[in-house]
Amino acid sequence: MLKTEKEIVFSFNGADTSYLTHSLHPFPAKFPPQLPKKILEDYAIKGQTVLDPFCGSGTTLVEARIFGVNSIGVDVNGLSVLLSQVKATPLSEKQFSIIENFIANIEDLTFKCKFNGRPKFSIKKIEGQDHWFQQNVSEEITFLLTNIAQLNDVMVQNFLKIVLSSIIVRVSNQESDTRFAAIQKNIPNYFTLEQFIKRTKEYNLRMKEFSELVQNSTELQVFNADSRNLDFISDNSIDIIITSPPYANTYDYYLYHKFRKRWLDLDVKFAQYNEIGSRREYSSLKEKKEKWNEDLIKCFKEMQRVLKPSHFAFIVIGDSVIKKELIKIEKEISNFTPDIGFKVNDILSSDLSNHSKIFNPSYAQKGKKEHLIILEKI
Ligand SMILES: C[S@@+](CC[C@H](N)C(=O)[O-])C[C@H]1O[C@@H](n2cnc3c(N)ncnc32)[C@H](O)[C@@H]1O
Repeated sequence: MLKTEKEIVFSFNGADTSYLTHSLHPFPAKFPPQLPKKILEDYAIKGQTVLDPFCGSGTTLVEARIFGVNSIGVDVNGLSVLLSQVKATPLSEKQFSIIENFIANIEDLTFKCKFNGRPKFSIKKIEGQDHWFQQNVSEEITFLLTNIAQLNDVMVQNFLKIVLSSIIVRVSNQESDTRFAAIQKNIPNYFTLEQFIKRTKEYNLRMKEFSELVQNSTELQVFNADSRNLDFISDNSIDIIITSPPYANTYDYYLYHKFRKRWLDLDVKFAQYNEIGSRREYSSLKEKKEKWNEDLIKCFKEMQRVLKPSHFAFIVIGDSVIKKELIKIEKEISNFTPDIGFKVNDILSSDLSNHSKIFNPSYAQKGKKEHLIILEKI
């Protein structure tokens, strides 16, 4: 049974949220790792299976590995899938030495280029390149991708792709991760290579700490899929769900990572057309609130189907504004869950206008709240 409300303390103000691999790569609206960590410690047993059907940057999956449960992540966004896999998969000594050799080689080549004069680089073509990337940057990104492709260890390749992806916005003409406007940055020659070298060394250390800590033989599976249909997961097979679906009309995750995906040959359209709750749907296409409810119901039905009876789903979700109406999401969810076989066990809400709690202070506006909703499968 669930512990009493008093025992569930979800306030992580001031806590370090960037330990181990959690700091790899920017990602909007992550939840603090302390949240899945605490839920796992309090409600899971080693060897069980946790599902995060909106796994984003893989926060739940990293904590699952550390705690010692098997984990399944699902995300509609191909970059999330790659990032989650990288962050939650420990590497071996042999793989670390491939990374270290690779970086020594890139450092050496960069030094020689600076000394002997810039060679003629080739350029991989991507859509929107001339507007969003300087030529010298495109050349250096292409150079790195070509070298990464020559390695024959897929996990090392993925790790290095994530390092490269993490610097793409910094070296592009995009103003910042959160402002989608092109500005002139005058990125000097070799800056992209140097940023990559610096970031790889930093992430390598994080990955080593994580890999040393994870000595268990748990399994990780990450699917690039739409969580309105989880037919690749069997009925009654999941012990615990810890997740945070999008907050309606707040982000376009597909847009946030668009250029990263173009460089890495990851699909953009699947996420664009299947992401639920996006700003594209509710601000550009002016969809109604009913569409948001329909999409959530589909996802919650699937979560209910795959969860074992009497087991729990922990959902972090925020209120939203659609067509100027404030949607109190805990009310909507409390209304539809009994019909699909979930009992609302508890709702812990935080008033973000007071910047009082955990999840996402930048979201504090218009009386919106964030909630941790605890559902039990009946
Ligand atoms: C709030 S974020 C999750 C963040 C995550 N808890 C973390 O800490 O990184 C929501 C995620 O839901 C994903 N998403 C949106 N629509 C989806 C769908 N139909 N199926 C699966 N994932 C979806 C988005 O791509 C995004 O990564």
